[in-house]
Amino acid sequence: MAAEIAPLDLSRFFETHPLLETARLRLRELRIEDKEGVYAYASDPEVTRYMIFPTHTSIEDSIAYLETCPKNFAARERIPFAIELKDPREFIGACDFHHISPQHHSIELGYTLTRKYWGFGYMTEAVREMIRFAFEEMGMHRVAATCDLENVRSARVLERSGMQHEGTFHDYELRHGRFVTVKCYATLKTGD
Ligand SMILES: CC(C)(COP(=O)(O)OP(=O)(O)OC[C@H]1O[C@@H](n2cnc3c(N)ncnc32)[C@H](O)[C@@H]1OP(=O)(O)O)[C@@H](O)C(=O)NCCC(=O)NCCS
Repeated sequence: MAAEIAPLDLSRFFETHPLLETARLRLRELRIEDKEGVYAYASDPEVTRYMIFPTHTSIEDSIAYLETCPKNFAARERIPFAIELKDPREFIGACDFHHISPQHHSIELGYTLTRKYWGFGYMTEAVREMIRFAFEEMGMHRVAATCDLENVRSARVLERSGMQHEGTFHDYELRHGRFVTVKCYATLKTGD
């Protein structure tokens, strides 16, 4: 019989908000001051088309979202990040870890980028770092993500980041008033 594997102790990742860095990006805690940056992507229907949240119609919606971030973090449900370009220093989008399971050593990630920053490889760069962080620092065994069946750009980000398409979940989410089908991607830590 295989030896028991203990749940991960993730306490330290919830004591101080993690800060991740890549060559061009900084992934840091989201703050209320990011409201204009959040509004820039969240009010764009082209960006929210495949996202679960309704398109923001006023800056108050973005503030309300930002107010949920520290609560979700304190509850250890999500680790939300602002994605900041280092040079010039600019807010370009957001990403997060969710479905964080210390018991199963697994985690999911999600992301969104303001439209004018699409096409530069920023999200692939961010996702690769999130995967590295989840495996090497958090000790995860599995990192997963889902994307809409039609969200070709997002699927390419996941594939370029080394994730494999594991399957398709039909009518998995109720989004913007209709049931939508999503593709599930994941990558496993090798050598465990
Ligand atoms: C999904 C989303 C983040 C993808 O953004 P993106 O800019 O297309 O993705 P990347 O950051 O990886 O950029 C890749 C593109 O930049 C190009 N690129 C330029 N420089 C690059 C570099 N240094 N490295 C990698 N790609 C680079 C690539 O050729 C690629 O173009 P292609 O897809 O036409 O081949 C973006 O479309 C988005 O925010 N959509 C709305 C929200 C959303 O759908 N989120 C996901 C929900 S599951």
